[in-house]
Amino acid sequence: MEIIKLKEIDSTNEYAKKLIDSGKRDFIVIADKQSKGRGRLGRVWFSDPGGLYFSIVLDNKFYEILSFITPLSVVKALNIGAKIKFPNDVIYRDKKISGILIERYKDKIIVGVGINVENEIRGEIKDIAISLKDIKRGVNKDEVFKRFLDEFFNYYNKFANNDLDKEAILKEYKKFSDTIGKRVKLILPNNEVEGLVFNIDFEGISLVTDVGLKKYPTGEIKNLRNLKEWNLNLLIL
Ligand code: BTN
Repeated sequence: MEIIKLKEIDSTNEYAKKLIDSGKRDFIVIADKQSKGRGRLGRVWFSDPGGLYFSIVLDNKFYEILSFITPLSVVKALNIGAKIKFPNDVIYRDKKISGILIERYKDKIIVGVGINVENEIRGEIKDIAISLKDIKRGVNKDEVFKRFLDEFFNYYNKFANNDLDKEAILKEYKKFSDTIGKRVKLILPNNEVEGLVFNIDFEGISLVTDVGLKKYPTGEIKNLRNLKEWNLNLLIL
């Protein structure tokens, strides 16, 4: 797969869309910094130099496993005992070290990954984010990038070749889940629910709430009022 390296860009996900428009397929865009890094739910992704910011463009298949194998690959590439906060944040001691933004665009899927590696965490995210350099010495973002790609394509290709099934991916994901068993507040487009996380699977997240066990579907929930796409978001209480 071709890797396109850029010094600076607004957002690797947005740039990937332009390349898709021009007919390009199967590529990765990586940038040293982003001027308009995007997060889930319309948030900003701080993208100072030193961090890893990249987007992998894939054919539109296996969408359902991407939100599981991507954070898993980050956890493995980092190798510091990081955990996954539902749906696909990677956290270390309750602070976010990596975020993932998966988008469908035309007949392609863009897997956008941001990992704080050698970048300084500053400003308003100081209390909620952490960088790999604050956890261990001698980190190198090229090494983390390479390890991520090895892990990611190992999962992806095994799944494509039927050497790995969805159940095995889920089992692996659950080993690193920081959300199962926790009390959470799930933020839905039009309301919020509190409960204890009972399970996570490809269809969604199940909570034990005051009114019993309830399952909430993951993925995009369409808010019909403004046709905006939403993802489930949760706060660990
Ligand atoms: C989140 O945690 O809300 C998701 C953050 C995703 C950030 C990455 S950095 C590379 C790619 N380009 C973007 O603009 N966003 C994603």
